Amino acid sequence: MSIIEKAAAELDKTLSDDASIVEKAANKLEGNGNMSHVEKAVRDKASRDFSSSSTSKVKSQRLALDFAKLRHYGIITPDDKKNTITEQFRVIKRPLLVNSFNQSGAGAVKNGNLIMVSSSLAGEGKSFCAVNLAMSIAMEMDHTVLLVDADVARPMVPKILGLETDKGLLDVLLDDKLDLTEVLIKTNIEKLSILPAGRHHPNANELLASQSMGLLLKELVHRYEDRIIIFDSPPLLLTSESRVLAGQMGQIVLVVEAEETSQQTVRETLRQIESCEIVNLVYNKARSFSDKDLYAAYEPY
Ligand SMILES: Nc1ncnc2c1ncn2[C@@H]1O[C@H](COP(=O)(O)OP(=O)(O)OP(=O)(O)O)[C@@H](O)[C@H]1O
Ligand SMILES: [Mg+2]
Repeated sequence: MSIIEKAAAELDKTLSDDASIVEKAANKLEGNGNMSHVEKAVRDKASRDFSSSSTSKVKSQRLALDFAKLRHYGIITPDDKKNTITEQFRVIKRPLLVNSFNQSGAGAVKNGNLIMVSSSLAGEGKSFCAVNLAMSIAMEMDHTVLLVDADVARPMVPKILGLETDKGLLDVLLDDKLDLTEVLIKTNIEKLSILPAGRHHPNANELLASQSMGLLLKELVHRYEDRIIIFDSPPLLLTSESRVLAGQMGQIVLVVEAEETSQQTVRETLRQIESCEIVNLVYNKARSFSDKDLYAAYEPY
């Protein structure tokens, strides 16, 4: 075995453990005097292999969600037994999933995999439902989920999930050199990724209605066509930008807070979003379905 082959073999064995091994192997080769083109190619390949393996190592890092805490706050987790909340979200997600993958033929739903969770007013349970819906779908064998925190002015997804976040959606909208993949967060639920809202911006809501957001949505549809993309969002009657976003969604889940939101308010909201073909209503926080699992309200971490 030549010194080149030995160095290459050594690299193959330990590539993922130590970056310096690439340098050491390269030094060994260089120290050996005249490097042929082949030898240089071996070294360059090894170096490339290492950097791609180290990048994918970084990218494949997963943030651990604390399942015990999530359960305590009423959020569905993979180790949940069957209970009221898991069953209710099973019912809620079913038609959404059917529409998501009905992209051709009769009854096809355009952008069906873009699902916005919203409500008329603040505090009706959008974030609670968006996170639970994402969790519930991520538990399925066949579906991968991207949860987007599009409530950019008042992001709650990281608080509910107990995540520290930095860059996100707003940063991607403001910096065309920043790729989506650089800000996505993978979690210890294999099929769940998060796109956080990003760093504070004074015109956060306006950015939701921007041309850049429209382009980003198109990119999401094409790049992640096999994924369900769930958007937590600002209330529809309180922010016009949220209504612009709604117009670009394939499906909307409209959360209605029981005994709080009037019929007239719900009617007005439905009128505002009539351009979206599929709107599903979720009657939330209804006391009559009494079950302590369901009403274990989360408190931010
Ligand atoms: N089905 C539910 N069961 C128990 N608690 C709930 C439920 N839905 C919402 N809550 C509670 O209601 C509060 C408000 O919910 P959430 O933050 O999801 O509302 P929101 O519509 O996202 O509010 P905002 O408009 O401020 O973003 C939270 O404390 C949450 O725990
Ligand atoms: Mg919210």
